Amino acid sequence: MPQKVIGVLVSGTGSNLQAIIDAIESGTIDARIALVIADRPGVFALERAEKHGIKALCIDRKGKDAAALNAAILEALDEAGVDLVVLAGFLSILDARVVARYKNAIMNIHPALIPSFCGEGYYGMRVHEAAVRYGVKVSGATVHFVDEGMDTGPIILQECVNVYHTDDAHTLAERVLEAEHKLLPEAVRLFVNGCIRVEGRRVIICEEGNGR
Ligand code: GAR
Repeated sequence: MPQKVIGVLVSGTGSNLQAIIDAIESGTIDARIALVIADRPGVFALERAEKHGIKALCIDRKGKDAAALNAAILEALDEAGVDLVVLAGFLSILDARVVARYKNAIMNIHPALIPSFCGEGYYGMRVHEAAVRYGVKVSGATVHFVDEGMDTGPIILQECVNVYHTDDAHTLAERVLEAEHKLLPEAVRLFVNGCIRVEGRRVIICEEGNGR
């Protein structure tokens, strides 16, 4: 089987991108990242990609409407021949054309247990601020396929973390990020190995010996 090709979309630091790069370099994931696209210039994720010899592209959202941004992203992904698109802290919205082109082949990491603290306005630190404010005792990370809605696609993997009364958004973010760095590479590995099947809203992990 030919090696699967991955495109990663980022908007920030790229620690989740790094977790995927590390899993590929250690041999845990048998795939190749063909390109990393950032929707804003100067983000550290682009530096990380370059450092590892991965093509790093900035398609600046500034000065573009959503249709132009999406068209440019779609063209770059198609040109690179990607099988899987990973949103690793990507804050722009992919439109219906991109989602249809890569149906059940775009995964997103969200820093909460969907369907809590997700959707419009819930991204980055805002998610953790809301979780702490609400007083939940557990939060976590979710990897899901991207559909036309916001954080509404089929859930692939989730992991819980405790929330303590001493937490603020930053301490919680740190704990969740640790879970993200395990969860996202694992979801990518399962996809690349052909172990994921989608039935309606439900994702079936069909790897032998995997009890999920
Ligand atoms: C991560 O916590 C990710 O879950 C979150 O942005 C952060 C990016 O960190 N994504 C969202 O909030 C999307 N709704 P990173 O750039 O270090 O990977």
